[in-house]
Amino acid sequence: MKQLDTLRETMRRDEVFSFVKPDANIQPITDRGVILSLEGVNKSFDGFKAINDLNMAIDAGELRCIIGPNGAGKTTMMDIITGKTVPDTGRVRFGQTMNLLGMSEPEIAQAGIGRKFQKPTVFEALTVAENLELAMQGDKSVWSTFRAKLSGSQQDYLGEVLETIGLQDGAKGRSGSLSHGQKQWLEIGMLLMQRPHVLLVDEPAAGMTHQEMDKTTELLTSLAGDHTVVVVEHDMDFVRSIAQRVTVLHQGHVLAEGSMDDVQQDQRVIEVYLGE
Ligand SMILES: Nc1ncnc2c1ncn2[C@@H]1O[C@H](COP(=O)(O)OP(=O)(O)OP(=O)(O)O)[C@@H](O)[C@H]1O
Ligand SMILES: [Mg+2]
Repeated sequence: MKQLDTLRETMRRDEVFSFVKPDANIQPITDRGVILSLEGVNKSFDGFKAINDLNMAIDAGELRCIIGPNGAGKTTMMDIITGKTVPDTGRVRFGQTMNLLGMSEPEIAQAGIGRKFQKPTVFEALTVAENLELAMQGDKSVWSTFRAKLSGSQQDYLGEVLETIGLQDGAKGRSGSLSHGQKQWLEIGMLLMQRPHVLLVDEPAAGMTHQEMDKTTELLTSLAGDHTVVVVEHDMDFVRSIAQRVTVLHQGHVLAEGSMDDVQQDQRVIEVYLGE
């Protein structure tokens, strides 16, 4: 039993990548001010400039919406922040000092940047609570073989997350029976289990009913403040309902930035959307 405990300890998500733990002297998280910044970032794919001199700064605790026509570079921008895509030039920083370029995807996730992809990846055969537990454990292959009991505080946190995502009543139900919207919330809950500082969310409202969208607005709004939330979304009503600050991307570059009203009245933005 002792050996099993030792193994569990070794496989804990926050211990697995002990070698990638941020240097204790580096303090990437600031209470206020810029938490995430891109400076002069460029990325070409086979000569096509998907990201073109991209400059953006996001404040800690902000709820930022990124909009823009298809192919504007929104997903590529998230790929660059999370280390999935390495830019040709430019700087990407987390907090004041942490250089995200040169860090691997797991290192960046470990540093506190969580990402939700468009397509839900919940394990349908498992219950809602089990999916959250799995997300906390991190290493999926290990989890199935050596399912560790959660500590008291981990249980408490799981309960908190269930409440945040509004699935406390269905915790023991199979995830496969959840609605599309509920699966998206579960997925956000799975991100929260890793206690990220920044949440990057790609098209959370896609395919949702209006009622589900309203709940998603509430959820993302409640997460901002304690977290920094960056949302890429096409649905303009949804963006209007949550947006504090909106960045419009076009051809890999920031076309406009400001309140939803500001950007919607911007002539360049109108032209880009009319031309779509
Ligand atoms: N790995 C890749 N290889 C080649 N081209 C790519 C790659 N990734 C993205 N692109 C191209 O870069 C451009 C930007 O794509 P991206 O997916 O970032 O746009 P987007 O703003 O997310 O669009 P959408 O709203 O349709 O999701 C597109 O023209 C796309 O075809
Ligand atoms: Mg995209």
